[in-house]
Amino acid sequence: MKNVLVIYYSQSGQLKEIAENISLPLKEKANITYYNIETEEKFPFPWDNASFFGAFPETFKQIPSKIIPPKDEILNAKYDLVLLHYQVWYLTPSIPINSFLKSSFAQQLLQNTPVITISGSRNMWAFAQEKVKKLLKNVNANLVGNIALTDRNINLISVITVVDWMFSGVKRKTYGFLPLPGVSQQEIQESSKFGNIILPFLLKGNFTQLQEKLVESNAVEYRWFLVSMDKKANKMFTIWSSLILKNPNKRELLLKFFKGYLFCAIWILSPIVHLIELILFPIRYFSIRKEKKYFQGVL
Ligand SMILES: Cc1cc2nc3c(=O)[nH]c(=O)nc-3n(C[C@H](O)[C@H](O)[C@H](O)COP(=O)(O)O)c2cc1C
Repeated sequence: MKNVLVIYYSQSGQLKEIAENISLPLKEKANITYYNIETEEKFPFPWDNASFFGAFPETFKQIPSKIIPPKDEILNAKYDLVLLHYQVWYLTPSIPINSFLKSSFAQQLLQNTPVITISGSRNMWAFAQEKVKKLLKNVNANLVGNIALTDRNINLISVITVVDWMFSGVKRKTYGFLPLPGVSQQEIQESSKFGNIILPFLLKGNFTQLQEKLVESNAVEYRWFLVSMDKKANKMFTIWSSLILKNPNKRELLLKFFKGYLFCAIWILSPIVHLIELILFPIRYFSIRKEKKYFQGVL
């Protein structure tokens, strides 16, 4: 029997459900161990204004928080495959995930082990995945696959609905008519198909071509406009997070300015950038195709 470790953190339970569905088909042929990451510092769900924006600087700067050690039976086993489920906070792996990946436990569990990353985010996951890749490299893990599940609604609609979900704690139709937030229930349920794709590779002990098969199965949502926004926002977030962390006595005030900036960036700058990107699309066509291949890959 093969041994598979399923790692996740989830506030709403969305990623837990995805983790359960993906691992379902593996259960017949492998021992599955679940590890729910827990940090000493707790993050509220539903979020309130202060904690939601207050989490920004430490998340973006990838400052780790203390992890509650996994059980010995989890730590002492050797795994043939690890499924690492994570969510994106501020274009970065969430604090619990970043903290785990920077811990000695990650070194112990992931070293020389094939890892498939699975993100469940609003829609801006591309550069968070780059950060995860770096963290995995640091612990000598071997990234063999990536699944990026998102809210597939129009960007500005999901901003409203996902924020409503985060602040209410309920997946509901905002204003009674907007679409439900997050990864669609159908996609969550159907994510067991990824387990079926992974199984033969796990049994062979060779994951070459796995990512191609996952992509054929719609595992990685790529929207060029979002990747472009992600890149630009990372630059701005670098400035904001440094400014806030360097001025601890002005933290509250600066976080208020950051909130204002974020509001303008989403509602004023992003539609303008989108329009410019649309105009430039024909000129950028080949570089966008290249970029798509890169972000749908694991290299
Ligand atoms: C503080 C915070 C920041 C977030 N930032 C992003 C982001 O930058 N990009 C994105 O696609 N989703 C973002 N999300 C949405 C999450 O990736 C995720 O979909 C949501 O939190 C549900 O995850 P859960 O499984 O923990 O409930 C953010 C959520 C929170 C709470």
